[in-house]
Amino acid sequence: MKIPQGYRDWVFVGSNLGIGYSEGKPTDAKQFKNIYITPEAFRAYKATGKFPDKTMLVMEIYEEATKAEPAKTGSFEGKYVGIEVAVKDRRAVDEVWAYYTFFSNGKPLAQAKAFPKAACHDCHAKHGSVDNTFVQFYPRLRDRD
Ligand code: HEC
Repeated sequence: MKIPQGYRDWVFVGSNLGIGYSEGKPTDAKQFKNIYITPEAFRAYKATGKFPDKTMLVMEIYEEATKAEPAKTGSFEGKYVGIEVAVKDRRAVDEVWAYYTFFSNGKPLAQAKAFPKAACHDCHAKHGSVDNTFVQFYPRLRDRD
């Protein structure tokens, strides 16, 4: 798949800071993540509570940055890291969602291949509150508003 263009003009559904997936003390610096969905899919989800085929969600990642005048406390979105993408595709054989990462070693990738099911899909299927998706963390999808 080619890297999606113009996703910042899609519908912004939520952001979070420092969600990590492994137990114990986080060793890496925190990251900010912003989540966007294709506008057609947002409208369909709002109306029906279901994600239509071809729904695409982009998770944009930034490093956490601090201490830029006049900010004495708190943090903001610093260096851009890259995007990860989820695509609902009913033609996929044994999984309905495909997952991609469009960066590697700090560099953007113009194209990426879908990950094997165990790498991404299974955690999403187990813990995402709606249809493989972490709606529980995204206010605009959570509220369907
Ligand atoms: C151990 C659990 C886990 C695994 C494995 C995982 N994710 Fe996620 N993913 C999450 C959580 C939790 C979120 C919620 C937002 C966040 O992390 O900031 C998320 C959110 C996302 C989103 C935003 C849309 C959505 O579905 O909610 C994308 C895109 C995404 N992940 C891509 C990937 C890719 C690509 C992989 C495999 C390389 C992957 N994920 C593996 C837990 C996981």
